[in-house]
Amino acid sequence: MADRSSVSQLFAPPARVSDGSFYPSHGSYEKMYAQSLENPEAFWGSQAEVQIDWFHQFTQVSDCDLASGMVAWFLGGKLNVCHNCVDRHLSIRGDKVAILWEGDEPGDVRKITYRELHREVCRLANVLRHNGIRKGDRVAIYMPMIPEAAFAMLACARIGAVHSVVFAGFSAEALRDRIQDARCKAVITADEGRRGKKTIPLKRPVDEAVMACPTVEHVFMVRHTESKVPFYEPRDIDLGEAMKNERPYCPVEHMDSEDTLFLLYTSGSTGKPKGISHTSAGYLLYAMLTHRYVFDYREDDVFACVADIGWITGHSYVVYGPLANGATTVMFESIPTYPDAGRYWDMVERHRITQFYTAPTAIRAIARLGDEFVKRYDRSSLRVLGSVGEPINPESWNWYYNVVGEGRCNIVDTWWQTETGGIMITPLPGATHTKPGSATFPFFGIVPVLLDDQGNEIEGNGVSGLLAIKSPWPSMARTIQGDHRRFAQTYLDPFPGYYLTGDGCRRDEDGYYWITGRVDDVINVSGHRMGTAEVESALVSHPGCAEAAVVGFPHEIKGQGIFAYVILKEGFDADAELIGELRNEVRTHIGPIAVPDQILITPGLPKTRSGKIMRRILRKIASQETGELGDISTLADPSVVELLIEKRKGL
Ligand code: WTA
Repeated sequence: MADRSSVSQLFAPPARVSDGSFYPSHGSYEKMYAQSLENPEAFWGSQAEVQIDWFHQFTQVSDCDLASGMVAWFLGGKLNVCHNCVDRHLSIRGDKVAILWEGDEPGDVRKITYRELHREVCRLANVLRHNGIRKGDRVAIYMPMIPEAAFAMLACARIGAVHSVVFAGFSAEALRDRIQDARCKAVITADEGRRGKKTIPLKRPVDEAVMACPTVEHVFMVRHTESKVPFYEPRDIDLGEAMKNERPYCPVEHMDSEDTLFLLYTSGSTGKPKGISHTSAGYLLYAMLTHRYVFDYREDDVFACVADIGWITGHSYVVYGPLANGATTVMFESIPTYPDAGRYWDMVERHRITQFYTAPTAIRAIARLGDEFVKRYDRSSLRVLGSVGEPINPESWNWYYNVVGEGRCNIVDTWWQTETGGIMITPLPGATHTKPGSATFPFFGIVPVLLDDQGNEIEGNGVSGLLAIKSPWPSMARTIQGDHRRFAQTYLDPFPGYYLTGDGCRRDEDGYYWITGRVDDVINVSGHRMGTAEVESALVSHPGCAEAAVVGFPHEIKGQGIFAYVILKEGFDADAELIGELRNEVRTHIGPIAVPDQILITPGLPKTRSGKIMRRILRKIASQETGELGDISTLADPSVVELLIEKRKGL
């Protein structure tokens, strides 16, 4: 890849953003950053004291040792995350809108104040309690983007149950695996979801999944589209009806700082998805602080993160961060192109949105449909524009900055992961001079380093390496559900003393960080992590598939597309029907987001003499970068490469 950083422009923070922001100059950021590293205990301890409402003050700021997998923050503290997101605001902003919901149809709006939120969450929490859900129980949430999804998360937090939100685009099988892995006692769902006039079945896949989940005692269902769906009493409970029958007050459970708040499954390079585990105090503090500083949040703002709650971005920046700060948070049910590509900016105008946070894939999808969809609407309320999920290409960055933001808004290209809990590398509005395509500098308390393959730190600027984090931070994942060894093996053991991110990174001559993408077998499709191994195992479950190898390749809209090489068994023909069946196989095992964009049927794969598939070569062929294949002399049968190159041209 060409070195984008050397040709990049430098943008000073626009005046509208600098004025009144927390960090009006780069110098002030540098000073606070230095302080945060000089004495992390003092920094995090004082932030936790101020930001969190404690039932019982913590007695020790942290007890961490990355090398041995020990991470704990704010030990001895007692708090409740739901109390911090809801109850504590009642006396000062009870009538302020907490959740501003925009449904699938433009203008289908619900405004829920903090007082209303409190009542709804209490009712839902009481329903859960009265159906046997207790502190520590696991609850799966498989919901569309409706306020009840946030109520459900907060209700779990209130009674100390651990939620595991599963993205509503995952298939019944994927849902089943996640419910089984976490041994969920209940599932909260809706009849159906809506996205761009289409309905998404939810109750049906839940029924299918739960058949194989003996731990599930109840399925709570919200009636959203009101269409007729199967309902099995007494297992199934109509959540709306049940809530009407509960009092709008529910005491909160006193939780330890280190009690688990939620599990969130994400893809790794091998094996099944891992249930990333986050705890209460550290996660909450970090979500709050990053929401406040990265988005320059102020009391009268209307904050919109359009991510789905099925991903970490929705957890930290639709629900927990904004609500803990007492913000008005927008929840968006639809898609960026419904009814047309102007939907985001229509919402910005109608709700006077001040911060808007989305993914590069969405920006690319709407940018190519033309500027008129943007210019039609008044965007003067906007101050900060955020990007997350994958590297943002400089063209999209410039479009976001110039067309959407009219050069008045700060772009914050935020790098982070499910495992980090919150934003790690990012510009700060008002403080950071930005370069299109660079996530710029670390957040307070975060120490990114670049390592070589041996785990040596690469010093200085103008260098590239594996991105690792050198010191623990409050919201880092604590473990993988049921498999602490895997947690250590994946993140901590490769280079003792560091948290390994799985991303490659370059630090340019000016010290700016540029994320270059995953260095493992994870691909990033439309900002969603997809393990190639998962897609392969779905493909080989088709009776005609003898072997499959999956790689990523550049995709204009999705960032990366999924490219599958498939070897068929004797007696199966490579016709359109079979390709359709293979696609379908992936759809049922994982979900539509994992369906390969291209499937190439081949009699063989490039393997070393020891039988290892050379993915490097498959990636190049898929990307049609075959001028630079490198050394293929170690292949058992080099002629297969020529064949694949020819076949690729024919796709
Ligand atoms: C990628 C999403 C470049 C990265 C919050 C990371 C990014 C993975 C950026 C985590 C960014 C996320 N620039 N790459 N601003 N943000 N990524 O767990 O590869 O769904 O490791 O968390 O997305 O994806 P996850």
